[in-house]
Amino acid sequence: MKGIILAGGSGTRLSPSTDSINKHLLPVFDKPMIYYPLSVLMLGGIKEIMIISTPEDTIRFEKLLGDGTDLGITLTYREQAEPKGIPEALTISEDFIGEAKVALILADNIFYGQGFTTILRNAIKNHRHATIFGYRVKDPRRFGVVEFDHHQKAISLEEKPEEPKSDFAVTGLYMYDQRAVQIAKKLKPSARGELEITDLNKEYLKWNQLDVELLGRGFAWMDAGTQESLFEAAEFVKTTQQRQGFKIACLEEIAYYLGYITKESLYKKGKSMEKNDYGQYLMDIADRKHTQQYWDSIDHHPMLGLVNHE
Ligand code: TTP
Repeated sequence: MKGIILAGGSGTRLSPSTDSINKHLLPVFDKPMIYYPLSVLMLGGIKEIMIISTPEDTIRFEKLLGDGTDLGITLTYREQAEPKGIPEALTISEDFIGEAKVALILADNIFYGQGFTTILRNAIKNHRHATIFGYRVKDPRRFGVVEFDHHQKAISLEEKPEEPKSDFAVTGLYMYDQRAVQIAKKLKPSARGELEITDLNKEYLKWNQLDVELLGRGFAWMDAGTQESLFEAAEFVKTTQQRQGFKIACLEEIAYYLGYITKESLYKKGKSMEKNDYGQYLMDIADRKHTQQYWDSIDHHPMLGLVNHE
């Protein structure tokens, strides 16, 4: 499966913070927002990833993440001329997708929870045609809403409904077969003038080919698109990290445990940032300056079985 991160848009709800910088480059506590969706694709085992952003900002993402060599993955970049809607990511990257299946993630979505790696890997392994991820929210009217039956089979999908048929929002992570590109090409803009991802998902639903994975209680899903939610996300990351001593979405750590990069390159990367906590964290992992307890917990790491530490 290949991966696409959609990091364009206009970010108007975060203005003036986004007047001169792309929303997904803003920090969520100690790292840029885009690290979070990239960590999701990496945890899923996806190594070929395309980042799509605006004509002005694509170069900034390239400066930040390069060609992915440092993380043992392949990153390529492409522009979305105007924010015409999420499904456009699929037509823009048609040649990149080729005959592969694809996971599309919105760059302002943050996922965190125990067992997420397993959920992702199972969803990829069992993927048929289209898979979406549902999450129970307090105010479903702000989201795409999925209704499903007792067998967790989707029966309806609605974009920002006045009267939601369920409390389950559709999150910004979608997995598709190759047909998605052709479906995206045929979509017509909605009343708000955008191509809607819900319309694309509805096509799969029509053919009984839409699978829903539910992210349960104790799982955190946030989109960091407003002042309030960006601040909340940063607080969540700070509190969780400080409590547990693990970093959320530390790309180099993930690359190391997946066996993509060596201990030496992990250390070198840490050293280049040794004056800050992020750099220290990388050096600590490479140095194994942790207590036994740390390593015990690593052995219960969600990536167990994939770890590469000797
Ligand atoms: P939105 O949050 O709907 O839009 P936005 O990011 O432009 O922000 P605002 O509403 O404040 O103006 O977009 C959801 C995500 O999808 C976000 O990460 C940006 C991305 N996106 C694109 O990259 N291109 C698009 O055409 C659209 C509609 C969204």
